[in-house]
Amino acid sequence: MSLSLLKPEITKIIRTSKTVDSKLSKICEFLQENVKHYDWVGFYFKNGDKPELKLKAYAGKPTDHTIIPFGKGICGQVAVSNENFLVEDVSAQDNYIACSIDVKSEIVIPLFVNDENIGQIDIDSNTANAFSQEDESFLVWLNAEVAQLY
Ligand code: SME
Repeated sequence: MSLSLLKPEITKIIRTSKTVDSKLSKICEFLQENVKHYDWVGFYFKNGDKPELKLKAYAGKPTDHTIIPFGKGICGQVAVSNENFLVEDVSAQDNYIACSIDVKSEIVIPLFVNDENIGQIDIDSNTANAFSQEDESFLVWLNAEVAQLY
């Protein structure tokens, strides 16, 4: 299934859900339910003035890692690097925070508002090497849509 086909549904969620929180939660739920290799989907945002990320919305198993210091794990590295991060095999990463032993690969895409990295979408897969350029460009598009809410 082409991820591009999900774009109209995402646009609809953004247009019709009432609050920013409900829009983000519904996007997470929609992606987790409709994309086979998306087992956990979440949005982290910079936590005020602190050098850390805070989990704002997610779908999938609850995680203990609701706060992630900048620089720690894949998410914390993206908060600092401002670069997309595709991890084929999480077990090969030194700087990685495990949320579940089932997770095999991960993608994190930063979310920019006026060129500032304010947060990110983080997706875990229980399949190894699950993410491709198609996921990357779809999620860049998605974050640009979400950025318009800020
Ligand atoms: N694996 C992430 C932590 C967040 S969980 O995937 C929900 C990381 O290394 O930053």
